[in-house]
Amino acid sequence: MTARLVENDTEIALDGDFYTSVLERVHISARPRTYFEIGTLSGDTLRLARCRSVAVDPAFQLRADLTIDPARTTLRQMTSDAYFAEHDPRRDLGRKIDFAFLDGMHEFPFLLRDFINTERSCAPRAIVAMHDCLPLDSHMTRLHSQVMIEKPTNHPGYWTGDVWKMIPVLRKYRPDLTVTCLDAPPTGLAMVRGLDPRNTVLRDRYDEILAEWADLSLDDFGIATLLETARVESASDWCSALTPIHPQPLRSLGAVLKPRRRWARAMAALGLESRAP
Ligand SMILES: C[S@@+](CC[C@H](N)C(=O)[O-])C[C@H]1O[C@@H](n2cnc3c(N)ncnc32)[C@H](O)[C@@H]1O
Repeated sequence: MTARLVENDTEIALDGDFYTSVLERVHISARPRTYFEIGTLSGDTLRLARCRSVAVDPAFQLRADLTIDPARTTLRQMTSDAYFAEHDPRRDLGRKIDFAFLDGMHEFPFLLRDFINTERSCAPRAIVAMHDCLPLDSHMTRLHSQVMIEKPTNHPGYWTGDVWKMIPVLRKYRPDLTVTCLDAPPTGLAMVRGLDPRNTVLRDRYDEILAEWADLSLDDFGIATLLETARVESASDWCSALTPIHPQPLRSLGAVLKPRRRWARAMAALGLESRAP
């Protein structure tokens, strides 16, 4: 079981690999050539990148022992809205985005804008990962991280905000996307593929989407309904099926033909008809 309801159906429990391990496997298996991150804080997710990277955060708190290559990493200290108003990830990265991790402001309108703006710069086989879309209980979905609400919780320090709304919203407005919710603790990863930079549905219907969703609480929507909508999958299985975003081109036609020619010569030397393997 990858995800299940516990505590009298008021909480979600996730069983998979920790989210940073999943992100690391994406870097290793999908081998993105470019990485774009919104929300970096100490750099624990930025340090996993092995390629040209851009990180956006208005308040970096990079760890002193963080090893990132300054030659291939651009840090933009600003909000993501300011970043998209003033910069273009394609220009910063030198090419389109292969892999993005959206983990900035945990309020639904912010993540919706981050997704819309990021998709515009995505490469055809890109992956966009969104953090915290599977809150374990409704307490952690409160709008402000510093505000505690009068509600029992087993996870007092957690805050996901209301970015969980991205899951039902993408399922409803963008059925063309492949949205896979992974059982990655602490609060899940939503992996989006099939991105289409020319699709304007979310941008065109932004006001309508906010009017419908902005004030809806997780208690109103229902944690069981969220789990049903999310259709959570095993992070480990999903990662095992990953292949490189840019498959290696064949070394040369000669490299493919050489074994066939050698086989034909060997068969001819034996006086046998050649049926190449
Ligand atoms: C949860 S932390 C990121 C953690 C990091 N990705 C990791 O997994 O280790 C969220 C970060 O988002 C940043 N943030 C807050 N508002 C933002 C905004 N409007 N645009 C971009 N980043 C924002 C905060 O400064 C904070 O560093």
